[in-house]
Amino acid sequence: MSEPQLDVHLDADAWAPQLRHDVVSGLTSSPKTLPPKWFYDDRGSDLFDQITRLPEYYPTEAERQILRSRAADIARLTDADTLIELGSGTSDKTRVLLDAFTATGQLERFVPFDVSEQTLIDAAKFIGEDYPDISIHGVVGDFERHLHTLPRGGRRLIVFLGGTIGNFAPELRREFLDQVVATLDPGDSFLLGTDLVKDHDRLVAAYDDSQGVTADFNKNVLRVLNTHLGANFVLETFDHVAVFDTENSWIEMRLRSQIDQTIHIADLDLDVTLRAGEEIRTEISAKFTRDRVTTELADVGLEVVEWWTDDVGDYGLSLSTRR
Ligand code: SAH
Ligand code: AVI
Repeated sequence: MSEPQLDVHLDADAWAPQLRHDVVSGLTSSPKTLPPKWFYDDRGSDLFDQITRLPEYYPTEAERQILRSRAADIARLTDADTLIELGSGTSDKTRVLLDAFTATGQLERFVPFDVSEQTLIDAAKFIGEDYPDISIHGVVGDFERHLHTLPRGGRRLIVFLGGTIGNFAPELRREFLDQVVATLDPGDSFLLGTDLVKDHDRLVAAYDDSQGVTADFNKNVLRVLNTHLGANFVLETFDHVAVFDTENSWIEMRLRSQIDQTIHIADLDLDVTLRAGEEIRTEISAKFTRDRVTTELADVGLEVVEWWTDDVGDYGLSLSTRR
């Protein structure tokens, strides 16, 4: 087994200015917002991992079910020797693909790509140990900015699982997909996981679980600002809110201030005033239909060659190639 290679495009020097920029712009706008990528420090990544095991949070198991039944087809149809995973996290479900791709002997390289450095290093280490015959090339980066740095060569399958595509605002989703297409060479494929529209109560429960893990995950962004920007958020003065926006077909997660308060963010020399009841939007999680996925992929020049769902139709996985 060779040592995993690691490219770091987002070290502390690079992400600190990005965090400062996002926080100033988000907390001085109306309504106030914070981008979801800042959930994922070590604690946030661990909380997300706990979310994936909650009874209410169905997407992870639904996607795993599809992968289990289709991984061999995906290996055959793509004939890929390189598996690139965007927003890879622990790459736990990805092992289903790694198993199928190594069973045929076709896989040479796995490229996990994530903003969370420690999570990526750990995942690369464990996968390297369990799949000693493939080379691991981790990339620490922001998939909104660094897709052009993905390693080229070979026949590549880019996978974007978990429904993370739903966390982009629509205009950013289009930009992201444009960049994915720009990195695809002839013969490469794109495997995309999308959560599907369903009963609203189930959707809300998935984002407001009874154990309060999602609430803790949501508030973690305030902890990140306290730790990295010297902010003085008191987490107990915020309520976790999850609502389904039917017009936009997305779940919105927010943090609602219980009281009138002024937060001081020392490193930015910024005071942020919140009224009692005022909310900070921290995440959207769009829910799709098959038609919408097909149309949005077609809009960037991708043709869906396969579409699979789990048994009950909660979740969709599409395989596409450049037209
Ligand atoms: N793919 C995994 C994890 C999904 S959680 C699954 O299906 O379960 C979303 C992942 O995307 C996290 O690991 C987070 O660190 C990563 N992420 C979020 N925003 C990102 C960004 N802008 N660039 C790169 N990775 C990002
Ligand atoms: C990573 N992403 C797809 C998750 C989602 O479902 O939108 C993040 C999450 N937020 C709350 N729970 C899970």
